Amino acid sequence: MPADSVFAGERYKQNMAILHKFAEGPMPRIHKNVWQWEMSTAHICFIENIERTYAYAVWATENNDLGNFLGFAEIAIVQICKHHQFEEDKIYPFFAKHSGIDPWSKNVAEHHTFSTPLELLWLYLRHSRETLSPPPKPVTSPVPTPPEEILSLDRSQAPLLDFNKPFDPYAMRRHMDSFMDILTQHLTDEIDTLTPEIMTHFPQEKDKELRKMMEEHFKAYDPAWFLCSAFTTVDITLLKEIIPLPFLVRRVLVPFILGPKYSGFWLYSKYPQNLTWAGTA
Ligand SMILES: [Fe+2]
Repeated sequence: MPADSVFAGERYKQNMAILHKFAEGPMPRIHKNVWQWEMSTAHICFIENIERTYAYAVWATENNDLGNFLGFAEIAIVQICKHHQFEEDKIYPFFAKHSGIDPWSKNVAEHHTFSTPLELLWLYLRHSRETLSPPPKPVTSPVPTPPEEILSLDRSQAPLLDFNKPFDPYAMRRHMDSFMDILTQHLTDEIDTLTPEIMTHFPQEKDKELRKMMEEHFKAYDPAWFLCSAFTTVDITLLKEIIPLPFLVRRVLVPFILGPKYSGFWLYSKYPQNLTWAGTA
């Protein structure tokens, strides 16, 4: 990691330390206590995958592994774009509607301070993979096509990313340096809106309803990328706690059917071994 990178900076380190503090210990079982633990855990996962994207970009380019690397990188960025979209569309309006308070609208406002460079990075990674020569394997990215509002973004807002040239890992890093501190700051500050004191206003039966909606939402994604991304991002003991799955899914479907589909992507993840028979035990 370059010494002048945003990931080597003090602000980044301080924010990560705060998130790790909130995510300490086992998952709380009381609904008003779970949100700050769960959201910090999710945010750490997103940030770590983005950091890995930054860290491995040059290695992947020099070692002719861009098909796999850009697949991993696109998923890292899409996870966070989709997370924010779901918070804006469902989670925070649902909290506000059923709590009688609304400290969450500021979270949505903050999304717009970094969403454009983040979404343009998604387009850049996807475009760079699509235009590789020879074509990558598998050719098609497993994540959904970006929506029209992202596809139509004015690309001149990311002047460091040249869509007419082959993937440039150094340009991508400089682009990330320009917004990662704002993003990480947001992902840290958001936790202050999810404290037990605030979440006690959100009724338990509505919490159950929201969790059902979240489950349906996650199940709609192709598990070959969505579930495998989760598997390879966290320690297997934590994974079993946050995503309890039937034995056959965890021990058979994941290692033998889903994992092999994009196996090269996950070599850039923190826990690629979690997609093996031994790793899912
Ligand atoms: Fe969040």
